[in-house]
Amino acid sequence: MAQITPAQQLFDLSGEVVLVTGASSGLGRRFARVLAAHGAKVVAAARRVDRLAELAGEQEGIAPLALDVTAPEGFSAALEEAERHFGPLTLLVNNAGIASGKRILDTAEEEWAAVQRTNVEAVWHLSRAFAGRLIARQSPGAIINIASLVAEKVGVSSAAYAVSKAAVLHMTKAQALEWARHGIRVNAICPGFIASEMTDGYLSSPAGQDMISRIPQRRAGDPSDLDGVILLLASSRASGFMTGAALRVDGGHALA
Ligand code: NAI
Repeated sequence: MAQITPAQQLFDLSGEVVLVTGASSGLGRRFARVLAAHGAKVVAAARRVDRLAELAGEQEGIAPLALDVTAPEGFSAALEEAERHFGPLTLLVNNAGIASGKRILDTAEEEWAAVQRTNVEAVWHLSRAFAGRLIARQSPGAIINIASLVAEKVGVSSAAYAVSKAAVLHMTKAQALEWARHGIRVNAICPGFIASEMTDGYLSSPAGQDMISRIPQRRAGDPSDLDGVILLLASSRASGFMTGAALRVDGGHALA
């Protein structure tokens, strides 16, 4: 029988080199901090580099990288630059995303396109660039895609966003299927409503408060509510046999 690994070792991420997109705020910032606190080296990527510099100053093992995920022509150079900080990347967290809170007929073409570009196409292009590098050097690794509760459960006024996140979920499965043979695990996290710059306005509004009253746990999540799930999926010791999975963390919202 395999030995029992103590939790501290199970979630020890020493040796992992992670790229987190959209790390200047919210969930991405928290992911960067939690992964670094468990021994990973983290390249925190986003457009607001002043915020990344602040984050890197606050915690050891984090380096900033300027990256606009809607500019795939720069991905190859960005990955090269990321690897100059701590060596070859082993984990990609596709976290950058934008929301859209309009009904279908009120969503302008440009808004639809921007949401798909940021939430879907960026994940497609960056994952390809990342996996291509790992496969070329025959290294194992992992990708964690941040999808959403609305990838599976639609609501009014979030169609463009919900469609984009459903695509992320399907992409996760397709990537997992194709890259398992190369030792690359691909999983998704589907958060419910979590307090962040993206959601703060809505959550504090009367409509947001009403929505919260219908979540079974009667609260929105905090970014720290995702600490356990990001560590689980990042650690190949803890989740080495998991690929193509989607883990929902929503206070029971999907059940309501
Ligand atoms: P946030 O707005 O604080 O974070 C999103 C990050 O993505 C920001 O740092 C933003 O600058 C970055 N970003 C946006 N466009 C970018 C671009 N073109 N290039 C580089 N970075 C870009 O919001 P939050 O909540 O932290 O969102 C993180 C992820 O979690 C997103 O993918 C979001 O869709 C997803 N999510 C959030 C939920 C929530 O309730 N907060 C629920 C479910 C999913």
